[in-house]
Amino acid sequence: MLRYLTAGESHGKYLSGILEGFPAGVKITRAYIAAQLRRRRQAPGRSARQALETDEFEILSGLAGELTTGAPIALLIKNSGRALPPPSSLPRPGHADLAGMLKYDTLNASLIRERASARETAMRTALGSFAMRLNELLGIGVNSRVVSLGGVSGLTAGKAAELLLRARRDGDTLGGEFEVLIDNVPAGLGSCVQPDRRLGARLGGALMGINGVKGFEIGGGFALAAQGGIAASADPELSGGLDGGMTNGLGLLLRCAVKPVPGLPGGALSTDLKSFRKKLSVSKTSDTTAVFAAAVVAEHAASLELTAALLEKFGGDSLGELRPRVEAWRKITKKILNRL
Ligand SMILES: Cc1cc2nc3c(=O)[nH]c(=O)nc-3n(C[C@H](O)[C@H](O)[C@H](O)COP(=O)(O)O)c2cc1C
Repeated sequence: MLRYLTAGESHGKYLSGILEGFPAGVKITRAYIAAQLRRRRQAPGRSARQALETDEFEILSGLAGELTTGAPIALLIKNSGRALPPPSSLPRPGHADLAGMLKYDTLNASLIRERASARETAMRTALGSFAMRLNELLGIGVNSRVVSLGGVSGLTAGKAAELLLRARRDGDTLGGEFEVLIDNVPAGLGSCVQPDRRLGARLGGALMGINGVKGFEIGGGFALAAQGGIAASADPELSGGLDGGMTNGLGLLLRCAVKPVPGLPGGALSTDLKSFRKKLSVSKTSDTTAVFAAAVVAEHAASLELTAALLEKFGGDSLGELRPRVEAWRKITKKILNRL
């Protein structure tokens, strides 16, 4: 069974993470993990604060040289060492602050922010890079692309930069949509027999678990609701690679909507929970959009879920055991799929 846990606060010394149940014999370099972290950190739309975070990391266990051993993989990512923010009883609208203050019975929103912060997604990315690497070695491609920003689709790098510049100038932030595309996935991952084994539900959970993600679709998604059954059944791609909670041999297409970053440089009106006075909650260091960074995190979160599903179907404690099983299965299923 593959499982992982992360810990750590945004202004704590370190983020820590453990990935357990990952097979032995997977070759992964520090440079590979560093590159994945850099993709998240340097994604378009991030604030200058990212320059402070270098995502320097340590691998504490689970690797012998550049090969995984099958033992739990433990990682540390150093935070930049900035001081813990002072206590604040002013919840930031659109954040975990108010709900967290109520839930954890505190008038100090800083305690909630520290853990709710998307800084945690750095560790999810680092742990997910092991799954990304395993997918790569099994010939499974996991990629993402941002398909709209602030309601504008058909994006080019230039158009995105222009939209971000304009939003920054206006003191605004932007939401957007991204897709995760997964190709060459073996058929039959996930299951139809229990709701919590449906791969779509599991991938949805993983992607909806990313801070700021408010919508999730598979394949044709919400647009399918407006289609007739004749048109919909004529296009197998609309299933997004999943039927009955299982991969059907086609590529997976997942889509997420990310809300605009709630931290606004000009501030948003809130209520202080001590004085019950209205005050402006100002965020000087917020990103202009999280959609590009979230897309990178999503590749990693989806990869972890996919690796879990692969290990459930094929078992194996090492890549040497897993790979021939996956290849043999691909041959068997291709014989049928190629004749459809
Ligand atoms: C990589 C990443 C970076 C983010 N950066 C910011 C930020 O700088 N400022 C902000 O207000 N929200 C940021 N967010 C979004 C908040 O974390 C998110 O809106 C908040 O957790 C509440 O969203 P929720 O209701 O989906 O949990 C970021 C999200 C991600 C995934």
